[in-house]
Amino acid sequence: MPKIIGIIGFKGGVGKTSSAVHLAGHLAERGTTIAVDGDDRNRSMMTWASAGKLPFQVMSLMEALSSRDADFLVVDVRGGLPDVELFDLARSCDLLLLPANPEMMSLDGMRRTFDVLTDEEERTGQPWRAKMAALLTMVRPGTPDKPNRKLVEAQAALSALSIPMLESTVRASEAFKDASKEGVLVRDVKGSHLAATCWEDYGSVTRECLSLMGVKA
Ligand SMILES: Nc1ncnc2c1ncn2[C@@H]1O[C@H](COP(=O)(O)OP(=O)(O)OP(=O)(O)O)[C@@H](O)[C@H]1O
Ligand SMILES: [Mg+2]
Repeated sequence: MPKIIGIIGFKGGVGKTSSAVHLAGHLAERGTTIAVDGDDRNRSMMTWASAGKLPFQVMSLMEALSSRDADFLVVDVRGGLPDVELFDLARSCDLLLLPANPEMMSLDGMRRTFDVLTDEEERTGQPWRAKMAALLTMVRPGTPDKPNRKLVEAQAALSALSIPMLESTVRASEAFKDASKEGVLVRDVKGSHLAATCWEDYGSVTRECLSLMGVKA
């Protein structure tokens, strides 16, 4: 059975699709990976893949139902998924990643998603909390003597709410926008001195995700 990672969240534009694509890119180096475009309204991942330059297959949710021979499925969904569909996805996934940006509105959207899932967990006894993790994306890098204040505050806010989060974060960079425009992974963006660093941000995210799912490095 494949390991399934769902990238979820009610709020739009927080980096769900970018995270799904880059996580799938790293996982493809370890095993057969399928990225599932569950965003039936926008088909953003299908558009990204249309240039034919991604090292994994992208399928719709329906198509993916028949692909049980993959090692990893990474499922991207649209922002406003109805609760029942969110619960269906949560039941199927080994890990639920909740991307958010270190901004009030974004963190609030993520907290609502977390709350809806934990309420349902309490109602039905599903062990979901253990497989949820927040991922802070679009983080402006700080320096050792001047850490990014918004990042520090966001991490403190998540800790105070007992929302589990990945230690790894993803920096804000135009290179990610170029990657989606060009239909490539960020590592393949030409002319950006940050392309390799941005790619490695998701390398670190991927290693943490594998460890949370109990997959050996
Ligand atoms: N780390 C990043 N730094 C800068 N820009 C980013 C980063 N990640 C994503 N973006 C850009 O932000 C925008 C939203 O990202 P993305 O499409 O991944 O979010 P989403 O949560 O899937 O959005 P939607 O809800 O519309 O599906 C895109 O223009 C994308 O290129
Ligand atoms: Mg998206």
